Amino acid sequence: MKNVVLGIFDSGIGGLTVAREIERRIPGVSYVYFGDTARLPYGTKTASTVVNYAIQNSKFLKAKGATMPIIACNTASAAILKTKGANKKISLIFKNSKTFNVIEPAVEAAKEATKNKKIGVLATPTTVNSRIYERLLPGYKVVSVPAPLLVPLIEAGWEYRPETKSILREYVNPLKKAGVDTVILGCTHYPFIAKLVRDMMGDKVKIINPAVQTAEKIELFVRQQKAKPQGVLTTRNYLNKLNKYPHRRFYVSDLPKGFSKQAARFMGHPIKARLI
Ligand code: DGL
Repeated sequence: MKNVVLGIFDSGIGGLTVAREIERRIPGVSYVYFGDTARLPYGTKTASTVVNYAIQNSKFLKAKGATMPIIACNTASAAILKTKGANKKISLIFKNSKTFNVIEPAVEAAKEATKNKKIGVLATPTTVNSRIYERLLPGYKVVSVPAPLLVPLIEAGWEYRPETKSILREYVNPLKKAGVDTVILGCTHYPFIAKLVRDMMGDKVKIINPAVQTAEKIELFVRQQKAKPQGVLTTRNYLNKLNKYPHRRFYVSDLPKGFSKQAARFMGHPIKARLI
């Protein structure tokens, strides 16, 4: 791996939860981010449509210089994982690169976290319909709740409005009734309301933010890459060496101004998204 440039994509702003974690953990890494704002939401579309979008997004990111794809959208991750050959196609676009999605790392973390083997999932309808968590968690009781109203509320910046709270309560109730001890925030947007979920579920329930687990995996992967030729360098040094001047570019398929504004607020530094 000579010069890592991550190609991160999501249907919109949600994948920034992953980008933010990546920046925090691997400050030297360069990436290109694509938010498919013209076609958002993915979470109510069929899996085959979403896989097609994911392939187009990957081609775009490759053309912009990305070398390794990060599928920073749960709906796209679910659609790809459940569709035979889809992950391979994406890997091939990036010359057989390893691919990262946000579902497998979250599943691993949930397995480690749960004591009673009852895991709750909040996700978009398409992700829930894919039954991917059930497939990846045999032997566990998985309670998946589709929460379609949350994405538009979070996109609108309504995270802490009372309306959002009461809608979220409806979604969280079945998880409480089922007695889950772990909840996966199975949509990129939900980490924005993680605190609300925590307050409603209570302190004893573990909340899994896939962005954190995914960034951890990516960091580990990069660390392993350097372990062979450069035994003594720390990851940070190594990455800084690779990418002395890390660059980050943001592209969207619609509404670059609105995206830039929201993204800057969330990432804590100015962002200028370009229209593709
Ligand atoms: N990014 C999507 C996900 O993680 C949520 C937004 C959408 O529905 O497009 O599932």
